[in-house]
Amino acid sequence: MMRYVEAAGTRMSAIGVGTWQFGSKEWGYGPDYARTTAREIVTRALDLGVNLVDTAEIYGFGQSERIVGAAIVGRRDQVFVATKLFPVAPLAPIAEWRAVESASRLGVQEIDLYQVHWPNPLFPVAPVMTGMAALQRIGLVRHVGVSNFNLLQWRLAERKLGAPVLSNQVQYSLVARKPDRELVPYAQAEGRVVIAYSPLGQGLLGGRYDVDHPPPVGVRNNNPLFLIENLERAAPLLAALREIAAAHGATPAQVALAWVIRRPNVVAIPGASSVAQLEANVAAADLDLTDDDDARLTAASDAFTPVRGPAALPGLIAARRARSAAEAEAETQSAPDVDVAG
Ligand SMILES: NC(=O)c1ccc[n+]([C@@H]2O[C@H](COP(=O)([O-])OP(=O)(O)OC[C@H]3O[C@@H](n4cnc5c(N)ncnc54)[C@H](OP(=O)(O)O)[C@@H]3O)[C@@H](O)[C@H]2O)c1
Repeated sequence: MMRYVEAAGTRMSAIGVGTWQFGSKEWGYGPDYARTTAREIVTRALDLGVNLVDTAEIYGFGQSERIVGAAIVGRRDQVFVATKLFPVAPLAPIAEWRAVESASRLGVQEIDLYQVHWPNPLFPVAPVMTGMAALQRIGLVRHVGVSNFNLLQWRLAERKLGAPVLSNQVQYSLVARKPDRELVPYAQAEGRVVIAYSPLGQGLLGGRYDVDHPPPVGVRNNNPLFLIENLERAAPLLAALREIAAAHGATPAQVALAWVIRRPNVVAIPGASSVAQLEANVAAADLDLTDDDDARLTAASDAFTPVRGPAALPGLIAARRARSAAEAEAETQSAPDVDVAG
């Protein structure tokens, strides 16, 4: 049975579907995934009671919105469609025009949640909120959201909108705990929602990756979490996830998701590379962790101190060099012999 978080008269499934993977080259899932699996993920999710489907105009440069749009034809009333404005120039007329474009790719008359993808440090938030207010007035947007905003920025956005900004979509998981400090308490106190992105640490918390099994080439090569040093540091947290998973007959990924959505006013939007993963993620809504499980996971998460920020750059550069050298080596090996004498 899916659980839902209710706020401001809306209902969002505790587990939603993240769709950055749909049609995005950086995930490397290929054309078959974009053509068939992605759509199946959405339809299966709706069959299982998920209503929150999160996309963005930037994902696959519109491809993700188009795939979601095709998948929800005839099922509009079952979906809470969330998309995002990429805020290169977050001015009112641009927000208004881009919302129309997104709605058209999604095939909807109304976007349930229209989010500002990032705060833009070069622009004040007032103009984009003016655009959002206009979009709400004309009925193209039901609720306004933000993403990657800190608490001050979220509250300022609300002042400029003159109304609640329903949600803030931020990185939140056992390996990204910053929202615990201010954003989650604010959502709980004020009836807002934190939408947890990368709730599986981009797959790290699924337990498939370790020092000997790094993720395939793609977006995760730029994520410091997957540096060898951090994979080593994550071992105790992954061991805790595995033990608790075994006790519940669940998987580490399901336990990681259950930990996130155990927090009131928090929903999670894991991405999935297969329908089977989606099904497993949805089932995490049924997993009841005990207070002891929760405390143990929280302590293991507290003890995980990955190398991040500028300190992670030398490792990322070294990993990139090693990959380039391996690719060059592979190319040399597969190149046909050339008869230089001709
Ligand atoms: N607002 C923002 O700035 C922002 C930023 C990032 C993401 N997002 C949104 O959040 C969504 C989710 O974040 P994310 O994709 O970065 O990270 P994530 O959900 O933490 O990780 C997704 C990846 O984890 C693996 N996985 C999924 N289910 C699994 C399972 N049951 N068992 C084992 N592995 C599993 C899959 O990769 P493999 O199978 O390839 O290992 C999948 O692609 C995105 O799709 C996007 O909609 C928003």
